[in-house]
Amino acid sequence: MSQLARFPEGFLWGGAVAANQLEGAYQEDGKGLSTADVSPNGIMSSPDFSMETFNLYHEGIDFYHTYKEDIALFAEMGFKAFRLSIAWTRIYPNGDEQTPNEKGLAFYDRVIDELLKYDIEPVVTISHYEMPLELVKKYGGWKNRKLVAFYECYAKTLFERYHKKVTYWMTFNEINVSLHAPFTGSGLLFEDGERNEQDIYQSIHHLFLASALAVKAGHAINPNLQIGCMIASMITYPYTSKPEDMFKALQQDRHTLMFSDVQSRGYYPTYVKNYLEEQNITVQMEDGDDHILREGTVDYIGFSYYMSFVATTDPEHLKDQTGGNLLLGVKNPYLKATEWGWQIDPVGLRTVCNQLYDRYQKPLFIVENGMGAVDKLEDDGLINDDYRIDYLRAHIEQMKLAVGDGVDLIGYTSWGPIDLVSASTAELKKRYGYIYVDRDSEGKGSNKRYKKKSFDWYKNVIATNGEVL
Ligand code: BG6
Repeated sequence: MSQLARFPEGFLWGGAVAANQLEGAYQEDGKGLSTADVSPNGIMSSPDFSMETFNLYHEGIDFYHTYKEDIALFAEMGFKAFRLSIAWTRIYPNGDEQTPNEKGLAFYDRVIDELLKYDIEPVVTISHYEMPLELVKKYGGWKNRKLVAFYECYAKTLFERYHKKVTYWMTFNEINVSLHAPFTGSGLLFEDGERNEQDIYQSIHHLFLASALAVKAGHAINPNLQIGCMIASMITYPYTSKPEDMFKALQQDRHTLMFSDVQSRGYYPTYVKNYLEEQNITVQMEDGDDHILREGTVDYIGFSYYMSFVATTDPEHLKDQTGGNLLLGVKNPYLKATEWGWQIDPVGLRTVCNQLYDRYQKPLFIVENGMGAVDKLEDDGLINDDYRIDYLRAHIEQMKLAVGDGVDLIGYTSWGPIDLVSASTAELKKRYGYIYVDRDSEGKGSNKRYKKKSFDWYKNVIATNGEVL
């Protein structure tokens, strides 16, 4: 490996979580209902407003009450950073109030202070796969422009409250989910079940405006804040070297890159404008929107990476589908997959890093990566998750090579350092953690925490700044 392939001093090693997937306490201290609270089968499937179905998100892993013990374990692993999200509904329970809920703000004061006690840098996602349910019911979700101001007000409240303690922020988790799962991403419901592309793209425009206004507001409050975007990276390979497959791969990538293009460069690329025109989609824009986008470009590119995708023009290959975090994908014959069908591709991470850095020349932050697997708690209290260690080692090796390629990589927060409820399938059977939580998908178990084999392994990775994998 080249001498240049070394992680920089101060590299932000850690883990990442989302409020709705671990906090529980879904009605405590004035919290309002969120879209996740009505999504018992995973926040990407259809909501169930009856509230009668069992919903694992309601209890999570009870982090709301166990955060001190959990953060102590992260500190023991030597975390330099911890990515958490703030539940919008703890701060503005319905989303459209004039004043925030002090008890919600106070909870995150306590969490942030606990992290700082151990010199762990808090990295905050302002909105991670949840929004106040009331904004869906009363305003129809993000297709309504009013949400831009509600979000701006919420983001400002957070910046004002925490700017002295939190430097790293992200505006929307995996903002491109709005294209693939419109309820999760934008709070959109389609009565006849048919996707309405007009509403989807209108909502996306509003998300872009909200993100840009938040970036601007954050910088005005404290110019030192680093505010990033967050995309689910979905790098696509052509199935064959057929030129048509290559072009299809490029087009498929644009469904992802259009988000970071707008958030990073501050304007819609021509390929998006042409696509909208071809599809007869007219996004309502007001005078001054261009200006807002230009003034609110992000400081860094945050992204998640779990797998790569394949594009093909051959209907035969299309038949061979496999699972994925936001989409089903075409099977890549060269890759193995997790039990959930997510194709394991460490080299793809190096490629993504280079692709994004070549395109934007902004610092990159890998804010999610990891392997969802079924873990077994042995009688002696051990969990031998060698498969997880292998997965992470292979990905970190490729990150290191990307640094050697010249990519400015500032951190790595692997997904779910402590087991939590999955986003796509709302189960606890699929685990990502270094810390095992004794709780199953029916919500049964002692909720006790156990260190997995990967706990000590990751601790050593951090202690050696990635030199010993
Ligand atoms: C990402 C999300 O897409 O993937 C997380 O940002 C999510 O919220 C993670 O948990 C893993 O997906 P899943 O469905 O296995 O939980």
